[in-house]
Amino acid sequence: MKPIKVGLLGLGTVGAGTFNVLQRNQEEIRRRAGRGIEITMAAVRNIERARQLTGNSIEVVADPFAVVNHPDIDIVVELIGGYELPRELVLKAIANGKHVVTANKALLALHGNEIFAAAQDKGVTVAFEAAVAGGVPIIKALREGLTANRIESVAGIINGTTNFILSEMREKGLDFATVLKQAQELGYAEADPTFDIEGVDAAHKLTIMSAIAFGIPVQFDKAYIEGISKLEAADIRYAEQLGYRIKLLGITRRTRTESGDGIELRVHPTLIPAARLIANVEGAMNAVLVQADAVGASLYYGKGAGSEPTASAVIADLVDVTRLATVDPYCRVPHLAFQPGEMTDVAIVPMSEITTSYYLRVHVKDQLGVMADLTRILADAGISIDAVLQKEPGDQTDLDIIMLTHQTREKNIDAAIAKIEQLPAVISKVTRIRLEALS
Ligand code: NDP
Ligand code: HSE
Repeated sequence: MKPIKVGLLGLGTVGAGTFNVLQRNQEEIRRRAGRGIEITMAAVRNIERARQLTGNSIEVVADPFAVVNHPDIDIVVELIGGYELPRELVLKAIANGKHVVTANKALLALHGNEIFAAAQDKGVTVAFEAAVAGGVPIIKALREGLTANRIESVAGIINGTTNFILSEMREKGLDFATVLKQAQELGYAEADPTFDIEGVDAAHKLTIMSAIAFGIPVQFDKAYIEGISKLEAADIRYAEQLGYRIKLLGITRRTRTESGDGIELRVHPTLIPAARLIANVEGAMNAVLVQADAVGASLYYGKGAGSEPTASAVIADLVDVTRLATVDPYCRVPHLAFQPGEMTDVAIVPMSEITTSYYLRVHVKDQLGVMADLTRILADAGISIDAVLQKEPGDQTDLDIIMLTHQTREKNIDAAIAKIEQLPAVISKVTRIRLEALS
């Protein structure tokens, strides 16, 4: 069979990795795919640099639409990043009857519903394993490996940059800016690193996993997003003293509220018991913990960012698409795991309705009765306390009181915090970090 022809949009961190791994493992990949996979064309901005990389072995152009419209290209691989240009390119490729592989989670979290519908109409595949957790095959696991299960929850460390920053800060005592710079140099960070730090990148990935896990449309606009930029070193330290690690966690799970069934969709710094495997995922590594009814808990771990780990997922998609190219479109694995006509409209619940445990740090004047006031407010709100720690952060007149609560609804803790902040002995705003036992 003649080789399938691939056009790359972008030859940056992931594009170059894809080119190199495909060259290096060409023969092995051909034996797996059943036919050769050949990159014949690429679009970049800096043509000279791309020529140095590819050694003139492929056609390099500056106009990405020249790739998308080229009649000989069977699969377009979008590795440019961003929203609008990739959206236009991907929709055009689909309209031209080409299969698409992309690592672009931002694109799919915002425009996935439109893109998958267009691909379905045209009978082509849009594959996106690299978009979530880099080299970890979590899309394949959720969509195919766990297809027998009713999935209950997905919780993951799905941003390598922030996990790298938190790990280096905790282990080496390095400051935030130094570690961020290292993450950028290592190719982990997004073009705009605030996407990493503020939790947006993790929310893009979580939105995609939520759709696949529960058979709902992608709904990025409903995700609750809180990054690590406001996290203080004191909280990382206190959490450790209480037996926890703080991770930027993406959590999506089925829940039940007073108004019926719903789905939680949230990204925020989270205390996790240090004994859990997932709490020990360090550096740019990613891990996703899936809870499902038949299999129970399963954990997927590996490199979530970087050139060749991400290329590994891009090429796995290329092989899948190559194998599927001859299969009737209606017999292929649906983009979002469930058949398009079988999606449900279970609502994403507002944050006030989620249920979890909390770490509270209250900075107070060292006065008689302050602890009694705090515990009374929590008791009145029906919130039970799991652990308490009292520390002197600086001079002898102030205290940090750290409390871990048992599970409660977010609206209850919000109301209690509002009352705590009114107490005369309370000096500053209460620090609140959510806590997941993940047991
Ligand atoms: P880079 O910035 O390293 O590469 C982007 C590439 O796109 C470059 O080759 C650039 O050209 C090219 N490009 C940008 N704009 C244009 C344009 N208008 N026309 C033609 N070419 C253009 O990005 P990454 O490789 O890091 O990321 C690519 C995608 O993969 C993103 O969606 C990202 O979120 C995703 N991703 C990245 C991971 C990583 O670890 N880096 C991991 C998982 C997903 P030039 O070379 O000339 O500048
Ligand atoms: N910026 C992303 C991260 C790249 O740090 O995880 C992988 O998607």
